[in-house]
Amino acid sequence: MIIESDFLNLDTTYQGVDIDALRDFAAKRLPENFDKLRTQLLRGEFYNATEDRHVSHCLNRSIHNVVTAGNGKNRFCTIVRELRAGKWLGATGKPIKDVVNIGVGGSDLGPMMGSFALKEFADDNSLHHLSVHFVSSMDGGQLYAVLPIVDPETTLFIIASKSFGTIDTLANVDTVRKWIESTLTQEQWLSRHVIGVSANNQAMTDFGIPPAQQLSFAESVGGRFSLWSAIGLPIALTIGSNQFGRMLDGAKAMDEHFANAPLEQNIPMQMALLGVYNREVREINNLAVLPYDGRLRYLPNYLQQLDMESNGKQCDFEGNAIDYPTGPIIWGGFGPNGQHAFFQHLHQGYDKFCADFVAVLKRAAPDFEPAVQEGLAEQQRLAVANCLAHRRLMWFGAENGEARNHYIGNHPSNLLFVDELTPQSFGALIAAYEHKVFTQGVIWNLNSFDQPGVEKGKKLAQEVLKVLDGQSATEFDASTDAIVKRLK
Ligand code: F6P
Repeated sequence: MIIESDFLNLDTTYQGVDIDALRDFAAKRLPENFDKLRTQLLRGEFYNATEDRHVSHCLNRSIHNVVTAGNGKNRFCTIVRELRAGKWLGATGKPIKDVVNIGVGGSDLGPMMGSFALKEFADDNSLHHLSVHFVSSMDGGQLYAVLPIVDPETTLFIIASKSFGTIDTLANVDTVRKWIESTLTQEQWLSRHVIGVSANNQAMTDFGIPPAQQLSFAESVGGRFSLWSAIGLPIALTIGSNQFGRMLDGAKAMDEHFANAPLEQNIPMQMALLGVYNREVREINNLAVLPYDGRLRYLPNYLQQLDMESNGKQCDFEGNAIDYPTGPIIWGGFGPNGQHAFFQHLHQGYDKFCADFVAVLKRAAPDFEPAVQEGLAEQQRLAVANCLAHRRLMWFGAENGEARNHYIGNHPSNLLFVDELTPQSFGALIAAYEHKVFTQGVIWNLNSFDQPGVEKGKKLAQEVLKVLDGQSATEFDASTDAIVKRLK
């Protein structure tokens, strides 16, 4: 069955669950108060009990709300305009040419995915070229690559952190501070080369970021739901505020679809119910996300945080331990390249999986010569043909005599498809996944908006670091102690 919405379509045929069976399943699994909870979510009134705050990312689906959040001024658009026009000058009078977003998790994955996916939709032909880079990892791995190719005098750093306290981000910022020292003073750097994006205004002020360079967003916007807020600044710098606004419009259209479409025609609800069905009835513990358009290659990484940080839990909304399966393991990769790597296992391996194929049917290439345009259009068709073929094979399987040529099949999948990738269809796609995750969280009666499981590891790492730095003599276990000894 194909379900259409303004910007996104879903084909559920190869899930092999007919609509009556799904309706029965929904009647059993969707709680009676689902409509009420959905309305609360869309109005920013859903209550995240463990963090004692409401959940408000859906209120950010309009550029007006993003630009006025916290600061009450049109700061976001002004910053975007000046940087994109080459009018933002560094402390020594040179225009900024490179922007480096330092952030991790929700402060990295969404902005990076969006900037990469929508690059070609930049809304002007400004001659000033701004390059946007991303630095997230605590090992400084990306700094090794970025610092040698940028110039302190013409580089601006976005410090993106909802809490403004994440050690990975602060460690990267610390190294950057050391790097600029030979060229700029700290005062010069802070005055023209840093923008803070955070829900923690006090911490940005304490860090020394001038008020005009602080962009805030509400505490009630979860990190993994924050690309619609000022955290989306790198996307807006890549494509312009108007196009960024169109991405929000696409998400808004999906909010309305989620609110109003009947169950049979409701894309996020179908995705959610089929996902729960695969998890509970078919006992499939993982979902492979397989985009077939290279612009969406970071989608699996993004969805890993969105889904697994939200629904990878064994504690219900009331705080009781639960013993039923909840969110699946999300993995995947760029489909066409996966065909030459992990698809062997998908077609003939032992394990069960379900998949989301994501296809873009057409792609224009107006900037190329006609012959090249034709070649690229043919390649897009080639990718779509492969997407459709592999999806068929995974569902229907194939027998070709010998066992080695046997394709098992019976792997259920969705096909999410758009006619063209645009800021709107991209926004709708991401919002559809958000609402799927929300619906599944409601079905499993868990709080999709907290993440207690990320805390303990951070504390343990501090203890190990103290030993490595010689500040403590704590012993752990033979394996850890051996590595610590070797390092010291
Ligand atoms: O450790 C997990 C987490 O808190 C994510 O939920 C979040 O997106 C990420 O770290 C980064 O947090 P922040 O934006 O506060 O630096």
